[in-house]
Amino acid sequence: MRVFCCFMDTNARLPSREEKRDCGVRNVHTYIQMQTERQRFRMSFQWGDLVSAHGYDTSHVTFKSRNKTTQRDAMEPQEQQVAHKSKYTRNSPFQSTVLVNRLLTGAASEKETRHIELSLDTPEMTYTPGDAVGILPTNRPEAVAEVLQALGFTGEERVKDHYGVEISLHEAVESRLAVGKLARGSVNSYAKLTDNATLKELTAPENRARIEEYLWGREFIDLLVEHPGVIAEPQQLFTVLQRLTPRMYSIASSQAMHPDAVHTTVRVVRYDAHGRHRQGVCSGHMGERAPEGGKLPIFLHSNNNFRLPVDPTAPIIMIGPGTGVAPFRAFLQHRMALAESGDTWLFFGEQREATDFLYKEEFQKMAADGVLTRLDVAFSRDQAEKLYVQHRMHQQAKGLYRWLENGAYFYVCGDASRMAKDVETALLETIASESGKGAEHAAEYLAQMKKQKRYQRDVY
Ligand SMILES: Cc1cc2nc3c(=O)[nH]c(=O)nc-3n(C[C@H](O)[C@H](O)[C@H](O)COP(=O)(O)OP(=O)(O)OC[C@H]3O[C@@H](n4cnc5c(N)ncnc54)[C@H](O)[C@@H]3O)c2cc1C
Ligand SMILES: NC(=O)c1ccc[n+]([C@@H]2O[C@H](COP(=O)([O-])OP(=O)(O)OC[C@H]3O[C@@H](n4cnc5c(N)ncnc54)[C@H](OP(=O)(O)O)[C@@H]3O)[C@@H](O)[C@H]2O)c1
Repeated sequence: MRVFCCFMDTNARLPSREEKRDCGVRNVHTYIQMQTERQRFRMSFQWGDLVSAHGYDTSHVTFKSRNKTTQRDAMEPQEQQVAHKSKYTRNSPFQSTVLVNRLLTGAASEKETRHIELSLDTPEMTYTPGDAVGILPTNRPEAVAEVLQALGFTGEERVKDHYGVEISLHEAVESRLAVGKLARGSVNSYAKLTDNATLKELTAPENRARIEEYLWGREFIDLLVEHPGVIAEPQQLFTVLQRLTPRMYSIASSQAMHPDAVHTTVRVVRYDAHGRHRQGVCSGHMGERAPEGGKLPIFLHSNNNFRLPVDPTAPIIMIGPGTGVAPFRAFLQHRMALAESGDTWLFFGEQREATDFLYKEEFQKMAADGVLTRLDVAFSRDQAEKLYVQHRMHQQAKGLYRWLENGAYFYVCGDASRMAKDVETALLETIASESGKGAEHAAEYLAQMKKQKRYQRDVY
């Protein structure tokens, strides 16, 4: 099946808004039909040519016609919200190939943020912008070796995993047990295996604050080194340590543009604590042990509370500092691929423009081409005073309120601890001042937006 694309032969010219609107309707319709069949979106890719012609990087994607969809009546647009079912889950993941793993941040950046593309070469793996991908990491070899050495085991010992399946202790420590950041439960279970007075005191109910302080920046290896000789049998590790769990990453691509791949934007967590260099288990895996061509077990996770408007003409405002920008890249790709005509406004923030402007060229190109109607950036460390996305929102209060009055959907993604709250405060202040009706009205206005699903957050 070929997806009609009415502005294909425009010779490296982007479509006008009217052209986009006309063929957008058709493409959305086709897309929904495909979703109905629970098939992956596989266009016979005139789109690839179009997208390549306009400079978007599609080099790693094979555009081919292999749609096996049988025709059925199109579903109602609301059904775009449907959750995808897949035989691949966290317990039975899909073995994906790493197609791309490249650094987004500059060499002088304080952060290491990576763009990662993973293959989805199976019709079982479908996603919608707003979804997340779950990645199952392994512990890094140095950490595994350190733990085995501290325990005085070789790794050859046999243990039963969480399903009762016999495996080597090495495999258990590498891929089943959370030897990374220390959990309170692990210290409690460890303390129960010993008469060690310090550990008993640390885990006493009245010392909750003290144990939280102890946990910060520590891993299992610290507990082993500071309180050795507690684990006598390898199997005891399964009662002390939590299970190694997958980590979620917002999807940064649209399957309408990348039928066989899922993209993510991963900040590699690295820090020094208690005299050791540490790294996040999963982001560290992505940073150090996920070379292009290698395999990664993944699964897809639907999030029906973070979705583009059903109406393709509805304006959207996206607040995405740091890796929070990931789902908005997916939203924009989706609107571009389906030629959706609604206005789009992205607020992006990071530390420094020179090193941390994630997807700079892509977003600037989208802005130049009209896919992105407005782009506002806030680089917090390029001047003496901190400048954050909410400061840009205040500067653009008039326009922001006008967009809201025109029915704009407002999305926030990224840091839950401070940014999301500050952005909500800025939004309330904008509504209060620009409406001239004060704080109470702003609260009601926002409550109404939530009811209409026009205020959506994906924060972590
Ligand atoms: C829905 C959702 C979407 C997400 N999307 C993204 C995304 O798009 N991109 C992305 O990068 N992440 C995203 N995350 C976060 C991601 O899932 C992981 O939590 C993140 O990558 C860290 O996992 P890790 O295994 O590398 O680190 P872990 O091994 O889990 O370690 C992280 C922990 O290390 C500790 N820590 C971190 N820094 C320090 C420090 N300086 N000092 C002491 N302790 C410290 C903290 O306890 C922290 O929780 C998302 C999370 C959710 C829930
Ligand atoms: N669990 C984990 O270990 C882990 C791993 C990766 C990411 N994350 C989380 O993922 C989110 C994104 O991380 P990230 O490193 O990509 O970006 P980030 O930490 O959110 O930083 C992005 C930009 O936001 C700014 N910022 C800081 N406080 C803010 C506030 N209150 N309001 C608005 N902007 C603010 C930062 O400025 P300054 O830095 O100059 O203040 C920076 O310019 C965060 O929640 C982060 O904690 C967590």
